[in-house]
Amino acid sequence: MTGEIITIQIGQCGNHVGKQFWSQLADEHNIGVDGRAKTDDDLTSFRDDDTNPFFKQYEQNRYIPRALLIDLEPSVINDTIAHLPGFFDTKNSWVSSERYGAGNSWANGYAEGDKNQETFLNMVDKELDSTENLEGFQMLHSVAGGTGSGLGSNLLEALADRYPKKFLTTYSVFPSDESEVVVQPYNTILTLRRLAEDSDASIVFDNNALGNLTSRVLKTRNIDYNQTNQLITAVLSSITNSIRFPNYMYTSLQSIFSTVVPTPELHFLTPAFTPFTSDYIKDARDIKQNTAYDVLLDLVDDSNSLVSQTSTKAIYFNVYNTVIGSNDTINSSDITRAISKLQRRIQFAPWSSTVIHVNVGRRSPYLAHNVDRKHVNGMALTNSSGIIPLFQKSCNQFDKIFSKKAFLNTFQQKDLFKEYDEFIDSREVVRNVIDNYSAAEEKNYLDDILLEDDNVVGDFNQDVEVDADGDNYM
Ligand code: GTP
Repeated sequence: MTGEIITIQIGQCGNHVGKQFWSQLADEHNIGVDGRAKTDDDLTSFRDDDTNPFFKQYEQNRYIPRALLIDLEPSVINDTIAHLPGFFDTKNSWVSSERYGAGNSWANGYAEGDKNQETFLNMVDKELDSTENLEGFQMLHSVAGGTGSGLGSNLLEALADRYPKKFLTTYSVFPSDESEVVVQPYNTILTLRRLAEDSDASIVFDNNALGNLTSRVLKTRNIDYNQTNQLITAVLSSITNSIRFPNYMYTSLQSIFSTVVPTPELHFLTPAFTPFTSDYIKDARDIKQNTAYDVLLDLVDDSNSLVSQTSTKAIYFNVYNTVIGSNDTINSSDITRAISKLQRRIQFAPWSSTVIHVNVGRRSPYLAHNVDRKHVNGMALTNSSGIIPLFQKSCNQFDKIFSKKAFLNTFQQKDLFKEYDEFIDSREVVRNVIDNYSAAEEKNYLDDILLEDDNVVGDFNQDVEVDADGDNYM
């Protein structure tokens, strides 16, 4: 049986994204907003989807998300529960009794995480009681505010410590250039350290790319988070498609992410998606017909990436795709042709295999409007050095304010920040991430690792020490 996955959504962004994610899963599994199967057929007919990884069932016809909703202020969780009344387990949401949020300060969020850590771990343990074979956790959050970043970081550390064998993934939203919160670079670097040290795979989104893509898909400049979050949801839904609509392969987080995480250091993944149709985005224009060949080639087009691509020469380490269509829309010769074209088009690192993994997913039979539709949707997860500019930009923004010791007030009120070490160490960890990604472009990348440590590449449970110059840019 496929293992269960617990979703933890934290802060405004995490809970906003979670609201869209659960709405999408409800539609794909024929579940109403009250958590009950939409038709009575469910009681008698055979289901060939697997709801167990994401939903628990206390009664036959009632599906309850394996989700924890956490925030320091109530508005987004209230909105989520109002949108899906009766859907969530009432004891699985937690809002601080002070109800003020973290004021955009990672330090406040982290301190709240510390103070309430036992409560959160108890919530996780209670959720574990209704699992047979927990596979792992997925955390939804932004890296730039105070709660999703700070409280999220604290919880990530606690989860990695308490459940070291469980697979820990994050869906992490990076801020747009237009953001006005001055301490955002501090929040981002402090969070990135925890993503580097404690997560097994982090899927990165950036609000610049999300904004541009949403405008393009909906053909309007007036966009809101409800819309951009549907793009994130399309990726989440596609990554988990073969877990929820099982086939022969890729039915677990481990089997999916082991194709794109060659070493524990290289676990920051860039998602792409195309085309965004009404299966995923309300009000998106539909297309009549396309092929898996078109989709697989389009997925490597920078304009379909959910992280802004500023690097002209991204070197790829791994590529994993999912193509989803109705019966008969996906042709294996289209896939073979696309793979061989992509292998010539993409520049892989000299040490990496040029295998391009393509998972043929299944379109939900419960989306009635999908019957007879002939289009294919595709999602790509790539691991490449194209992620470096985003991290470098975060470092540059951090250096700019930290060199002047600016805006440190809310941080220095907390014990962790009485000295500057936490900032300096986190900056150093992010520098090492960038250095690792640069080193991975070189031919001898794996040789260095194997020389230093008799490490089995791809084993997530072992620490690999990779040499990095560790330049201190402070
Ligand atoms: P506090 O507000 O300080 O308590 O922390 P928080 O974690 O609740 O903050 P939030 O999640 O609002 O983080 C701010 C960052 O997240 C900014 O970069 C916002 O642009 C971004 N953000 C907030 N909500 C959303 C959302 O629903 N979708 C997306 N894509 N980004 C969001």
